[in-house]
Amino acid sequence: MVDYVVYGRGSFDQLSEILAPRRKNNAPMIFLVDHFFENNPLVRRVPADGKDKIIFADVTYEPKTTYVDSIAKQLKDEFGEVSGIIGIGGGSTMDLAKAVSLMMTNPGSSADYQGWDLVKNPGVYKAGIPTLSGTGAEVSRTTVLTGPTRKLGMNSDFTPFDQIVLDPELTSNAPVNQRFYTGMDCYIHCIESLQGTYLNEFSKSYGEKALELCQKVFVDKDKWDDESDDQLMMASYAGGMSIAYSQVGVAHAVSYGLSYLLGTKHGIGNCIVFDKLEEYYPEGVKEFKYMVKKNNIDIPQNITKALSDAEFNKMIDVSLGMKPLWENALGKDWEKKMTRERLRALYERL
Ligand SMILES: NC(=O)c1ccc[n+]([C@@H]2O[C@H](COP(=O)([O-])OP(=O)(O)OC[C@H]3O[C@@H](n4cnc5c(N)ncnc54)[C@H](O)[C@@H]3O)[C@@H](O)[C@H]2O)c1
Ligand SMILES: [Fe+2]
Repeated sequence: MVDYVVYGRGSFDQLSEILAPRRKNNAPMIFLVDHFFENNPLVRRVPADGKDKIIFADVTYEPKTTYVDSIAKQLKDEFGEVSGIIGIGGGSTMDLAKAVSLMMTNPGSSADYQGWDLVKNPGVYKAGIPTLSGTGAEVSRTTVLTGPTRKLGMNSDFTPFDQIVLDPELTSNAPVNQRFYTGMDCYIHCIESLQGTYLNEFSKSYGEKALELCQKVFVDKDKWDDESDDQLMMASYAGGMSIAYSQVGVAHAVSYGLSYLLGTKHGIGNCIVFDKLEEYYPEGVKEFKYMVKKNNIDIPQNITKALSDAEFNKMIDVSLGMKPLWENALGKDWEKKMTRERLRALYERL
């Protein structure tokens, strides 16, 4: 779990004080900031002192192992040692920060650690500050990376942040569509966790609260306000906690395949898939369609129309590789239930 949590509007301005005791000798703090903020007043509020460095994270594509390795190498070459890595941005930037922190102290490439419990050493101090709400990356024990052969996280006890700062003000200017797609990531985490076979009281307690907050924001309210940002930020936190002790399910397993082959981003990819999952999550999908309509959102259709057999097969391979997700969704005998043919038929509908 994350060791320290600060929550509140304006809490970003406590960052200098929060980092002070974490500074080691002469080693700099590295601020990895989402490139969206490159010319944004937020950058002037980043407490960079002395040798500290701000790196703008290019999140045009979701994080790749090669990008993680190159940032870690650059930092080792330039400074040798750093005091910490502070990720400020959406799920992509937070995942990058977690992965770079781990690669400052683990040998080889981040691709060597894609999987479960492969990371050997704790990383350097790392803090996460979300500017979009929904992924739960701020609390999770994974960092999702696209590597040479797969899209898979570095899942380990060393992966969670040491500190997070949850300041809902930072999410207030997110574009409506992006806010919805990332918010739906949280909604889908809740449905997949609450309907999964791995469910337990820990996951249920957080999942039910997160679902209630998502519904307040996207179903009940008629306009977006500060309270919506507050609620969605806590939904993201609780949704992330819910899947920490369970798993996600069909939408995530299928959307990983899309993302690997087509580069479809996580939030929108989950929406494209979830829209077609009435067979697996009937009530959730019905409510999802209502939220899409109410919030005036476009969900892309027919994105797999022009794909070849080989491409479908690649997506099916990536998806079926996500064994814990399928087992959570369909039970221990999932392989009998989710055949390649059935999955192909689902991909063809997207
Ligand atoms: N580690 C985990 O547990 C976990 C869980 C779910 C998803 N993820 C990962 O999170 C990523 C998706 O994250 P995301 O949905 O937060 O989006 P993102 O981080 O990919 O960002 C999406 C876009 O929004 C921009 N942006 C960020 N903050 C903004 C703001 N306040 N205002 C305007 N624009 C802003 C970014 O620059 C980017 O263009 C994927 O890489 C996915 O794999 C990780
Ligand atoms: Fe997700």
